Amino acid sequence: MIGDSEGKNYDDESKKEKKETELLSRRYFLEILGSGAIGIATVGSVVLTAQFLSPNVLLEPSLKFKAGLPENYPPGSVTLNKEQKVFIMRAKEGYFYALSAICTHLGCIANWKSEDGIIACPCHGSKFDKDGKVVDGPAPKPLPRFSMMLDEQGQLVVDRGSPVGEDIILKV
Ligand code: FES
Repeated sequence: MIGDSEGKNYDDESKKEKKETELLSRRYFLEILGSGAIGIATVGSVVLTAQFLSPNVLLEPSLKFKAGLPENYPPGSVTLNKEQKVFIMRAKEGYFYALSAICTHLGCIANWKSEDGIIACPCHGSKFDKDGKVVDGPAPKPLPRFSMMLDEQGQLVVDRGSPVGEDIILKV
């Protein structure tokens, strides 16, 4: 053992200092850990609050689509837009209307049969006339007709989200 004139023991002093240093570093570590936990909890609650306050909006694709220029459709033509599942009908008189191509029975896509002048469903044999009226079942209802308009560029626009009566036509 090493000692001085006052009788202090250096080994005991250094052990005490070492212990204090260990305690200090442990305390420092626990403080850092606690601060980190509080920080994470704060950020988490802020994020959850922001999510709660932001509007819960479901963005769905528009039901409107452009169908090109009127001159692309000859008078008396029936054109199936397969992607949109809509028939663009142009009457002999030149006016337009749009019919859903989705069969009102069980939802198959109907086709235009030019040789018979009807719209026919390949699934269970329903038939519709050019106005979408049921000619032959089992379809329970006519094909819905959709709103049509011209945009600023003179293109036809069909709105599948806007059904209209059978007397609604688009004159161009
Ligand atoms: S789905 Fe068209 S007739 Fe059945």
